[in-house]
Amino acid sequence: MERDRREAYRRALEEIRSVAEGENDAVANLANAAAILFGALPFSWVGFYRVSGGELVLGPFQGRPACVRIARGRGVCGTAWEKNEALVAPDVHAFPGHIACDPESRSEIVIPLRAPSGDAWGVLDIDSRNVDDFDEEDLAELEPIARLLEEIAARDARFLPA
Ligand code: SME
Repeated sequence: MERDRREAYRRALEEIRSVAEGENDAVANLANAAAILFGALPFSWVGFYRVSGGELVLGPFQGRPACVRIARGRGVCGTAWEKNEALVAPDVHAFPGHIACDPESRSEIVIPLRAPSGDAWGVLDIDSRNVDDFDEEDLAELEPIARLLEEIAARDARFLPA
């Protein structure tokens, strides 16, 4: 990974921490986190899906309008949620069941976000217009951001797995 990209992730981590300091409203904090990550690197879409009523429902995001509901096990997001593990789709067209919300999206990374109980309350989804834009190094930089988002959400009682 290039140094600029690593630094962009690390600046985003600090900025998310800073804007969420002293604020317990997780919707507001996730909205700012989506905006910060979207501005950090040339991603085509950054946002959250929340577990609600047995499916994923669109949450705060930046980018073009996206599909609102995703069934468990469907697409990259629904699969990451079902497996309760982070997934990289280097070429979304090759991912079985990929949900094409945005025809420009070519690769994607999805990280489950968990409550203190270990159950996921949602996922962070980042899309890129470039094939193969995400790898294990991106995941390593995004993991601390995901853990911070979990800490932030744990301060808001609405963000429990539903
Ligand atoms: N492509 C995703 C759906 C969500 S959008 O990209 C915003 C998927 O297959 O999970």
